[in-house]
Amino acid sequence: PVPATASTDELRSIVADWRRAGLRIGFVPTMGALHEGHLSLIRMAHENADKVVASIFVNPTQFAPHEDFDAYPRTLDEDAAKLANAKCDLLYAPLASEMYPEGFSARLTVEGPARGLESDFRPHFFGGVAIVVAKLFNRVQPDIAVFGEKDYQQLLVIRQMVRDLDLPIGIIPGPTLRERDGLALSSRNAYLSTHERDVSAGLNVILKDFASDLSAGTDWETAQGKALAKTASAFDRVDYIEARCAETLAPLPAGPVRQPARVLAAVWLGKTRLIDNLPVEQA
Ligand code: PAJ
Repeated sequence: PVPATASTDELRSIVADWRRAGLRIGFVPTMGALHEGHLSLIRMAHENADKVVASIFVNPTQFAPHEDFDAYPRTLDEDAAKLANAKCDLLYAPLASEMYPEGFSARLTVEGPARGLESDFRPHFFGGVAIVVAKLFNRVQPDIAVFGEKDYQQLLVIRQMVRDLDLPIGIIPGPTLRERDGLALSSRNAYLSTHERDVSAGLNVILKDFASDLSAGTDWETAQGKALAKTASAFDRVDYIEARCAETLAPLPAGPVRQPARVLAAVWLGKTRLIDNLPVEQA
């Protein structure tokens, strides 16, 4: 059976019943167009909770006016069937008018891990993510929530927000699921032409080489220059390709990397923006 799409009142009362029965609630927020990456997070939530709630909401506040909000794929019926297969217990798919009624006026400003990288190119993005995730957390009231490492900066921003706002929710990271050639699964991969799909796998290869140069002790400045040159020749535009502190996303001190680090990139192929990241293995 497909998990019922609950109204906000139903969501609250079903979750309250579960809680009264002593069950742990897990939550996986998404924007839909679900793929195996999303479903792997549902499975991780099951490993850490008794009941699993998923949300599907294409959140307007995290898109700038010129971005792909209208084009973003919306496949609610297929998504509900996939969630049923993954044994998701409840689907919450609110309307924009319920999330942001007339007169909605709150904003959240996030700094720390939200600084730089995505924010340099999508300055509205993490404020929109933070407000919608805070609202979803308040409505679902989960014990744990799972976020993919695919959006590594988002994962750290949410983890920091939960600490800062004293939300009693454990944030669990889920590893990035990939195609066989290394391309990270993404709802936006549906935008890629056949040719772009072939080229897209190069991003992961470049990040792997960047990370292994850093593991081998190359100065990050040199390794980044090499990675940037390769990225600029393979892709139509490069927003960033950088190495950062894995815990805070702060810039690294000059020279060889001597602390847990992460390489992160965002590039464009035609009208599609791809992001990916990898850990730097320590020697
Ligand atoms: P969305 O892009 O739908 O992603 C939902 C969750 O799936 C995020 O935690 C994301 O990191 C994870 N995910 C995406 N691709 C993945 C992959 N290949 N492997 C593993 N996990 C993957 O991220 C959002 O939605 C929104 O910003 C949201 C948090 C829902 C707020 O609107």
